[in-house]
Amino acid sequence: MSDDKERTVELHYEGGVLKLPVFTGTEGESTIELKTLLGSTGMTTLDPGFGNTASCSSKITYIDGAAGILRYRGYPIEDLAVHSTFLETAYLVIYGELPEPGQLKEFSDKLRDNSDIPAEMGAFIDAMPRNGHPMTLISSAVNTLAAYCDDSVDPGDENQVELATIRLMAKLPTIAARIYRNSIGEAPIAPDTSLDYVDNFIRMTFGDKAPTGELGELFNKAVGMLLVLHADHELNCSTATVRVVGSSLADIYSSVSAGINALSGPSHGGANQAVLEMLEEIRDSGISIEDFLEKVKAREMRLMGFGHRVYKNFDPRSKEIKVLASQILDRHENPDELFALALKLEAAALQDSYFTERKLYPNVDFYTGVIYRTMGFPTNMFTVLFAIGRLPGWIAHFREQAVDPAFRIARPRQHYIGAAERRYPGQG
Ligand code: ACO
Repeated sequence: MSDDKERTVELHYEGGVLKLPVFTGTEGESTIELKTLLGSTGMTTLDPGFGNTASCSSKITYIDGAAGILRYRGYPIEDLAVHSTFLETAYLVIYGELPEPGQLKEFSDKLRDNSDIPAEMGAFIDAMPRNGHPMTLISSAVNTLAAYCDDSVDPGDENQVELATIRLMAKLPTIAARIYRNSIGEAPIAPDTSLDYVDNFIRMTFGDKAPTGELGELFNKAVGMLLVLHADHELNCSTATVRVVGSSLADIYSSVSAGINALSGPSHGGANQAVLEMLEEIRDSGISIEDFLEKVKAREMRLMGFGHRVYKNFDPRSKEIKVLASQILDRHENPDELFALALKLEAAALQDSYFTERKLYPNVDFYTGVIYRTMGFPTNMFTVLFAIGRLPGWIAHFREQAVDPAFRIARPRQHYIGAAERRYPGQG
């Protein structure tokens, strides 16, 4: 945020004129500061869904939705997707700079050393309902980490936050894999510290059934790239949730657990599961794509995986994911017929004025489900993979907020439209 207090806008209201400072962001975007609005005018602003409201200044991620630009710490997502690894990107997002080789090794070693979970915690996870949605279960497990790791719950202590950062990054894949193994009635697989982060997660999940050889390498690359593409997305619903919960000085585990819950909804991260279910429904019902789109246009349903609050152009992540999906499905023995269906659905929607006029394009979730399904992940694990990818972003935002001198507890106002004062029956 620029300190340039010379730029102002004037708000003319019944009581007079209020000058409001305008701040200029790195890319020239303007933000009006409203801090004095209520005190000076007695008025609040009404902005459902916070579509026009910046709740903080941040240095982590830049998005230009109209131009289809996404950058983490200044680096274009297209470069990171192709040239970076998930751990390198996670380091960049959390600490602000790409790591030197020694720093990356140290980060990676710490994650390996902390990848196990306490035995009592394993028993706790095993006692949870095995057919529960994995997002519910990982959220509970992450919340409970605060109790198992209670020497790292003070958000005001940088060392404790750093310890919690490592523990969260190290343990979430172990927790997720154990929850998956429980759901299929298989014994958990302990972390293998000789493997890299992504390979270890795939092995803890699938064990001996994990693909090997060329396909195994492709799957590792694909999971790694998908995690990079999900690593942060500025003030989306789940990240805003992490910040809101953290703003009460709740610990990082509680805040991330809340973020996982926010991500689970079908309008947010749960959309990757919803896309797959939609494609299956189209296939199984035999409805034509044209008739399905007519139902969407009649508002009987939404086209899942399409549309975005910020991108009013192609989601740059969806372009990378589509290429990845083609690569995987080309080399797979049994390519998924839902990919072909998704391609047709996308093409038909993009030729339809309902979608083009509203600037509705495929988002990050449109093709990820098809890739995960081809790899053997069940549908209800898709959003868990999103959560593993988004974890560095949640952590980075929690940490940035914790040391932001401008930070205050999140406490929006409301526009009250309920009953005026009235008497309790029998009280006059
Ligand atoms: N299918 C059909 N119509 C849609 C869709 C869709 N997927 N998305 C938006 N529209 C329509 C709306 O009905 C509205 O039409 P109207 O102006 O005639 O009333 C117009 O497009 C604008 O939509 P809003 O709902 O105002 O857009 P908003 O920014 O509030 O919602 C959202 C964004 C929630 C992502 C929405 O596009 C949606 O529900 N998409 C499907 C779910 C999805 O894929 N979510 C994942 C998002 S990416 C992520 O979170 C990782």
